[in-house]
Parts: sequence; structure tokens; C-alpha cells
Amino acid sequence: MGNQTTSDRHLISFMGINALRSSHPGVRKLKRQQQGHSAHGNKVWRSSFVLMDYLSSWEIPENSKVLDIGCGWGLAGIYLAKNYSAQVTGLDIDDSVEPYLRLQAEVNQCAIDFQARSFQSLDKDELASYQTLMGTDICFWDELTTPLFDLLKLAKNAGTEQILIADPGRPPFWDLAERCVDKLGAEIITRKIDQPWKTEKFILAIGGRD
Ligand SMILES: C[S@@+](CC[C@H](N)C(=O)[O-])C[C@H]1O[C@@H](n2cnc3c(N)ncnc32)[C@H](O)[C@@H]1O
Repeated sequence: MGNQTTSDRHLISFMGINALRSSHPGVRKLKRQQQGHSAHGNKVWRSSFVLMDYLSSWEIPENSKVLDIGCGWGLAGIYLAKNYSAQVTGLDIDDSVEPYLRLQAEVNQCAIDFQARSFQSLDKDELASYQTLMGTDICFWDELTTPLFDLLKLAKNAGTEQILIADPGRPPFWDLAERCVDKLGAEIITRKIDQPWKTEKFILAIGGRD
């Protein structure tokens, strides 16, 4: 799959998907309708692009079931739904992200399920129904490190085939990474992209490729 990228003022084209920037008229319209929306799910975050680049090097089975926790605008899930017909569920504690996720999915002519709830509310049976659990730019808060570790442990025990958490390397990510390397056999992958921005991120990976 090519890595050609074209950007215009309101759109980022990357690996077969189009991501609407905050300046896009459709996004601006939603923002006007939603005064005071918060919790960081309010733009395109860069770790999701690095995760897309990493995922492009996998043999991803068609129709995989994927759960994107703290999905925000959901670009990495849209990438998998669009290019691999993945059945993606985006989950976010902030229900105000849903219209942005739907708009981004519509522009990319794919469908994403959305659940407004916390990742802490997921149980083992639900986790067992997904092959992939992923999250991008979700390690913001120290108090979420233990709940995230507990979730990844539960998912691993539930049989989730691959777990991927991408991050710029904030301190809570490294705390989580250390615990997951020590207790869950995780590895940390450093990944760089040159387009649409020159950036380096880190991917906490459990399971997946041998
Ligand atoms: C920085 S944004 C990243 C959004 C998206 N993953 C991306 O890369 O563009 C972090 C997201 O995590 C969500 N979030 C924070 N705590 C959460 C929780 N406990 N359960 C589910 N989502 C949560 C926020 O609402 C926000 O949308």
C-alpha cells in the first residue's frame, strides 16, 4: 500500500483515508453546535497516524473485530474499516466525540460502531469478542495507568490476539509500558513517519505478529 500523502488546508490524505482537520467546515459546524466540549477528543492526534503506518505492515485478516478505546475522532479504526473491512467499535467516555467520528467515517465511506462509556466498564466476555484492542494518545492521566493495565491484563486473559497502544511517550505511557513489559510480555516499538508530519511515537504491543 502506498504511503503517498496529499494535504490541503482542511484535509489530510494518508494511506487511503481522508482525515478532516479541525478547520474543515463540517467539523467547524459541529463545534459550533457543541459549545464547551472537552476531554481531548477534539482533533486529529498524531499517534493514530503512526499506528496506521504500523498496521499497514501487517497481514490483517478481513472482517477482524477491533475495539478502539478512547477513540475520539477514530481515525485508526476508520483506516482498518476502510482498508481491511474491519468491524470496528469505537468506545469513548465522552459522547460528544460521536458526531465527529460519524462525520470522519462518512467522508471515508465506512461504518464504525460507537459506544459512549468508559473502558473501565468492559468485562472479559466483551473483550473476548474482539481480535484487536487498540488505543492512541490515551495515556494522559496518572490515575488511568492502573485501570489501563487492568484492562490490558483482562484482554490478554480473554484471548485478545493483539493489543496496541500508541503514544508520544508521556510519563503515564512509560509507567504503563514498564508494567506491561514486566507482567504481560509486552514489547515497545519505536516508529517514525515522515508524512503527514515528521514524527516519532511508541507502540506498546502485546501479542500479534510472531
Ligand atoms: C487525546 S484523545 C485521543 C483520541 C483518539 N484516540 C485519537 O488518537 O485521535 C483521548 C480520548 O480518550 C477518551 N477517554 C479518556 N478517558 C477515558 C476512559 N476512561 N474511557 C474511555 N475513553 C476515555 C477521551 O474522551 C478522549 O476522546
